[in-house]
Amino acid sequence: MQFKDKRVLVVGGTSGLNLGIALGFAQAGAHLAVASRNPDKVAAALTALQEADPGGQHLGLEVDVREPERVEALYAQLAKHWTSIDILVSGAAGNFPVPAAKLSPNGFKAVAEIDLQGAFNVARLGYAHLTRPGGHLIHISAPQAYLPMPMQAHVCAAKAGVDMLTRTLAMEWGREGIRVNSLVPGPIANTEGMDRLAPGEALQRQVAETVPLGRLGQWQDMADAAMMLSSPQASYITGVVLPVDGGWSLGGVSVAMSHLAQQLASS
Ligand code: NAP
Ligand code: COA
Repeated sequence: MQFKDKRVLVVGGTSGLNLGIALGFAQAGAHLAVASRNPDKVAAALTALQEADPGGQHLGLEVDVREPERVEALYAQLAKHWTSIDILVSGAAGNFPVPAAKLSPNGFKAVAEIDLQGAFNVARLGYAHLTRPGGHLIHISAPQAYLPMPMQAHVCAAKAGVDMLTRTLAMEWGREGIRVNSLVPGPIANTEGMDRLAPGEALQRQVAETVPLGRLGQWQDMADAAMMLSSPQASYITGVVLPVDGGWSLGGVSVAMSHLAQQLASS
């Protein structure tokens, strides 16, 4: 797939699978901007982009999606370089496993503010900057959005909200030629999310065995899916919540679930 000179912003794009998505688009010819809180991660992500695409024109910017003023400042900074954003990937997230009864109000709030309120801030303030017609907003959701998981009440609630945001915005923005979709990663190797929910090689191998396709997802799988959904061939697809999980959502989540259930029992 070719995305020559397309402008792609990946919010929360400085590590893990979101960085994988950014690298995929950069290698396909797009101009990338990646943004997150930690300046060291921003700098490292920019270096990775430059190594993957020598000569490419990429940007690394700081933002905290919980703060609308900082999100606004991100778009203002970007507007100095780009006339509009063709593809906006919104994937900033936080997660930790904890039983609901032991989750403090501030713990719930922290995750809800990053995953859900943050997604809203990114979408609402990004709206004016999206290319029209042709702009595409991709939310990075999670299986917790439709599969209740022990120790994940905060994430389940927040990501379910993200998918409803996808569907609602697809209805509201469709007439302007803006598409909005969710990608739902399954268990993806070499990510913070996987390390937090299924720590250790042995457990991750067990999880991989529950995936119908028999392996964990890779960053490249997510990049390929994001590019497929952003390609001209997908121009009539909006408002979908697309699992990219090797079939895991068909029922293979049991090992990760039973690990979390055991943790719940002993907590
Ligand atoms: P990750 O590397 O920790 O990615 C999270 C990103 O969000 C980082 O770049 C982080 O950078 C940024 N971030 C966190 N809080 C932020 C804030 N307040 N403002 C701006 N940026 C913020 O984790 P990952 O596991 O690859 O997950 C990436 C996405 O995939 C998430 O949306 C997650 O829910 C989803 N997902 C992952 C899996 C999986 O298997 N890993 C499965 C399903 C869904 P800073 O710390 O610098 O801010
Ligand atoms: N168990 C229970 N509560 C926890 C917790 C854990 N493992 N980790 C954090 N919390 C609670 C804190 O105790 C605090 O609540 P309190 O004030 O009532 O004590 C609240 O969450 C906020 O914690 P804090 O560390 O101040 O949050 P933060 O805003 O600095 O960081 C997190 C947000 C907690 C989500 C942090 O893990 C993070 O930045 N994650 C980003 C990376 C990530 O999670 N990647 C995976 C993506 S799927």
